[in-house]
Amino acid sequence: MSESTRTRIDEELRQASERYAAARPRSRERHDDAARVMPGGNTRTVLFFSPFPFIVTRGEGAYLWDLDGHRYTDFLGEYTAGLFGHSDPAIDEAIRRALDDGIVLGAHNEVESRLAGEILRRFSSMERVRFTNSGTEANLMALGIARLATGRRRVMVFNGAYHGGVLYFGDSARTVNVPIDVVHGEYNDAAGAQELIRRHGDEIAAVLVEPMLGAGGAIPANREFLIALRESTHEHGCLLIFDEVMTSRTGAAGAQGYYNVRPDMTTLGKYLGGGLSFGAFGGRADVMDHFDPRRADAVPHAGTFNNNTLSMCAGLAGITQVYTPERALAHFGKGEAFREALNALFRERGVPMQFTGLGSIMNFHPQSSPIRCPRDIDVSRASIRDLYFFFMLENGAYLARRGLISLSLALGQHDLDAFVYQTRRFIDRFGDLLDA
Ligand SMILES: Cc1ncc(COP(=O)(O)O)c(C=O)c1O
Repeated sequence: MSESTRTRIDEELRQASERYAAARPRSRERHDDAARVMPGGNTRTVLFFSPFPFIVTRGEGAYLWDLDGHRYTDFLGEYTAGLFGHSDPAIDEAIRRALDDGIVLGAHNEVESRLAGEILRRFSSMERVRFTNSGTEANLMALGIARLATGRRRVMVFNGAYHGGVLYFGDSARTVNVPIDVVHGEYNDAAGAQELIRRHGDEIAAVLVEPMLGAGGAIPANREFLIALRESTHEHGCLLIFDEVMTSRTGAAGAQGYYNVRPDMTTLGKYLGGGLSFGAFGGRADVMDHFDPRRADAVPHAGTFNNNTLSMCAGLAGITQVYTPERALAHFGKGEAFREALNALFRERGVPMQFTGLGSIMNFHPQSSPIRCPRDIDVSRASIRDLYFFFMLENGAYLARRGLISLSLALGQHDLDAFVYQTRRFIDRFGDLLDA
């Protein structure tokens, strides 16, 4: 990118940011207040962006409203947890009924095993499942039991992977990661991963992998890569854990069904709690049954809210009444068609932009070169991504600042068409800056 293009993009960004701030005085005021009691006015880093994030006051269907009265079509979908939109009637009803029966019951309830049964039916590699409060916790528990079951200490992960707030393997040197001994592989490098497993196999308890790097840029795995992991882990006695916290919405049986690769363990979260806080981990019975409290050598697994009835009931309604296998397949197809419509537009206009992804999850990248792993992402063009973010926001579409989109079931075709239309306008407006 030439110096003059960079200067022009910076100037466009400065103006967009000013317009954004000028249109949101109440959000700014509330954020300033929040910053007096919370670091940066924030309790979830990913939601922050400069100059200040808008304050949302309400959501309905596929739409959000902020404190200053702006309406946004929600393309972020709560980083995939918002699959059902903001007011699905079946979920609302399930939560109301759960409330009627009282909360914080402190005992086994009827719903937890029904939800567990539905999850096992959906993800055939899972022979047993237990619940947690978040995807992070699910991954921590899966790694913990893998280490215990194998008697090994190390864990293999991939550069750019995000498995939770304390399991972040992106490029930041400053993290609050749990102190586990990690072997780093390169995503989608089958030969490299096989070599690492061959070299360190007898120390590795588990290989933890997202079938599509989610936070790392919605980069889908190659099937060969996952098969190589499956074969090598099998050969060396390591457990293969699929982190399907994001990808479990892929078709009728999650990404493991889509790729037809059977992991030993799977972790889940996000939408499977019906929009409430949720996590789950499970897999092979011989591994999971270490938690069986009837056993003399049982391993404890605690968590006050693991079986809270609000999440259990909302999750059960979500998977049985709303996101049925048929609906999941249709939603996958809708996402594929939407991504292809956007990519066809970029090809037609000859602009170096693309959406990567799988089904209803995708990520914008202002480059045309292929992206197989996070190293392929051209960070020098990040300012174009920022410009797109502000442009779309100004035109009523909310996606993640980093370019992530996850489609909810509440979005109609007219919402998707409007998004493509606004993207076309973005190209019309900034075309000369995009490929310079
Ligand atoms: C792949 C993946 N794993 C784990 C997590 C952590 O889930 P939670 O935010 O529920 O802790 C996330 C969250 O974005 C995720 O995308």
